[in-house]
Amino acid sequence: MRRIAIEGKRILNGDVFIQGSKNSALGVIAASLLTKDKVIIQNVPKIQDVFELIEIIKLLNVKVDFVENILIIDSSNIEYKSLINECVKKIRASYYFMGVMLALFNECEIFSPGGCNLGNRPIDMPLDSFVKLGVEITCDNDVYKMKKINKEKDIIEFKQKSVGATINTLLFSSSLNKEIMLKNISIEPEVMQVIEALRLMGVSLEVKEDTCVIKGRYKKNGFMISIIPDRIEAGTYALIGAALADKIRIHNVEIEHIKYLLDLFEKINVKYEINRKTLIVYKSDIKGINIKTEPYPGFPTDLQQPLTVLLTTASEDSVIQETIYKDRYAHVKELNKMGADIEIVDDEYLIKGNKTLVGSDLSGKDLRGGASLIFAALLAKEKSKIEGLKYIERGYFNIIENLKSLGANIDVYED
Ligand code: EPU
Repeated sequence: MRRIAIEGKRILNGDVFIQGSKNSALGVIAASLLTKDKVIIQNVPKIQDVFELIEIIKLLNVKVDFVENILIIDSSNIEYKSLINECVKKIRASYYFMGVMLALFNECEIFSPGGCNLGNRPIDMPLDSFVKLGVEITCDNDVYKMKKINKEKDIIEFKQKSVGATINTLLFSSSLNKEIMLKNISIEPEVMQVIEALRLMGVSLEVKEDTCVIKGRYKKNGFMISIIPDRIEAGTYALIGAALADKIRIHNVEIEHIKYLLDLFEKINVKYEINRKTLIVYKSDIKGINIKTEPYPGFPTDLQQPLTVLLTTASEDSVIQETIYKDRYAHVKELNKMGADIEIVDDEYLIKGNKTLVGSDLSGKDLRGGASLIFAALLAKEKSKIEGLKYIERGYFNIIENLKSLGANIDVYED
């Protein structure tokens, strides 16, 4: 098994360059199949989730070239295929193929999606949208069969904000020859980039606050787009920097997309500077906070785990309320093993401050949880060993090398 070995307490210093956003790339790549013209996507991160999505695309006879960070997609010979394939089970974003297949072929047969184990991750909302858009759905043994047979409704209102339901519904409704209004859509920058891709393809979409009107069938133009910087990757390094950096310069950050992080930094006393697209963070004396995770523009669930680590060092106790994924707490048990004192009461994490973590043998069970254990091990005195690198590689490009170049004592070994 591959493990990460970390000797903690090193002060970090230097530069890190943020990749294109994982979740934006996944949505844009799926959307790009709606045109048979060539699509060129720049700044695509070379991470496991993207590789997995590409494997699924290839099953549909789509030609893909991925050189440096440029992905060229040629769907001119795309074919209908049943997606009852193990690749689909590896990532959550595979369920975008429901929207894509329905848009292209009016039918779809697909496994239920995989993805990080964050507890219950239902897909009732996109399914509900598809039904409202005239699709009949059956599910047997984890296999969904869908066929468009009925007339679509004009208005779909989501019962809550969902990135996946919004993207899936956008993909399918863009193919219908009708004006459709989507209410209570997610407005994450990643969703907005999928909307940008659809517009570049020729779809007429109007977005006002959290309502979107899709005006008729797309024209199927090819397009070129550059993936936005990954705000979660940037946030992860920034939180690490707030605990450990003499000075860390995080480059390629879309400052507009991390307002919630800067708000948090003001409240918990993190010293930072902004120089255009560079966020500079310094080790700071952290104060406690009471905060909750929320849909964008609120504080994201994807940064909850690294924030939990940072708050163990705060001069006061803190509370994080996890409102998006109530079971996203696999890291807490590991942190407590290291000397943290975190209690979970319902959906709240009660985090005692002033803790010194001690290295331990740790097990990462999901992407952000795994990254937060790396952070905890960097902070801890003595050595840690972490398993679960495969989860971390799903979303962080070169994280080990990046941290090494900042001065961390970190290595990967096999045993
Ligand atoms: N939800 C439902 N029913 C549904 C869909 C969602 O109840 O049909 C609930 C979820 O259980 C959750 C909330 O709605 O409580 C929001 O979930 P959402 O659908 O927005 O999540 P997602 O689309 O599955 C994306 C990201 C996640 C990120 C969430 C929240 C991708 C591929 N994944 O997931 O990213 O945590 O939005 O922002 O875009 C990650 O990068 O580590 C990651 C897990």
